Amino acid sequence: MHAPNLTPDMETGIGKLTDADIARTMRYMVGSDGRCIFPFMPFAEMSDADLTAIVSYLRSQPAVKHEVKRTEMKFLGKALLTFGAIKPTGTKGTPPKSVVIDSTAEYGKYLANSVANCLGCHTNRNMKTGEFTGAPFAGGFALPPDPALSDGNTYVSPNLTPDPETGHIYNWDEQTFINRFKAGRVYKGSAMPWGAFSRINDLELKAIYRYLKSLEPVKNKIPKIVYGPGEALPES
Ligand code: HEC
Repeated sequence: MHAPNLTPDMETGIGKLTDADIARTMRYMVGSDGRCIFPFMPFAEMSDADLTAIVSYLRSQPAVKHEVKRTEMKFLGKALLTFGAIKPTGTKGTPPKSVVIDSTAEYGKYLANSVANCLGCHTNRNMKTGEFTGAPFAGGFALPPDPALSDGNTYVSPNLTPDPETGHIYNWDEQTFINRFKAGRVYKGSAMPWGAFSRINDLELKAIYRYLKSLEPVKNKIPKIVYGPGEALPES
């Protein structure tokens, strides 16, 4: 899949798209040309205010002329789209106009599910359809090596639910959690955007921590995180 150019360039970027086109893609997984796009973006429930802020931010960036090839589906992808295995998914209700920014688990829930995509990587899913196959936040999703990060390893996301035996952060207190984010990347090839996440502020990290601690514990042992090239992966 090719991630498109999001700068305001008229020919190769989002310059010609309306605000509504961009908002519709984020909320309903429908591209500006009417195509259904793969459900890997979790922004359907993002508030009107945050969605608007993101569109404004993108529009304020310098335009970069950079042609990105449109994602061409291979046979399987086409078949999945044709037979409805991949459907555009929209909001479950009415997304909030705006959300209160504070350190509550409620706000953490919003960040972890609808903004920072913790859910999308820390839940096992089918790589071909994007469908979730595991319990939310219980980890086990094997992220294939990213050529841009290029260490050739596959990283399996840890279980973030508060299970005493298998929960990765069960023994972490709030400050440990905050410090881990400030410290940034450990594994060169991990898909987790540690750079951007090291700039999440303390209030928001607290909120996320409190939310994760409030989840139902799920027993799901993740035997290890790093798999070298060619090493057999756990079943998904
Ligand atoms: C793009 C995928 C991705 C996203 C998004 C993501 N993670 Fe991760 N996360 C991973 C992977 C893969 C690992 C294991 C490798 C590593 O530690 O970098 C990991 C590791 C972790 C760890 C363990 C770190 C350690 O040093 O033991 C924590 C805690 C964590 N993630 C929390 C979160 C939270 C909270 C969010 C949302 C704010 C989040 N992750 C979003 C993929 C992701």
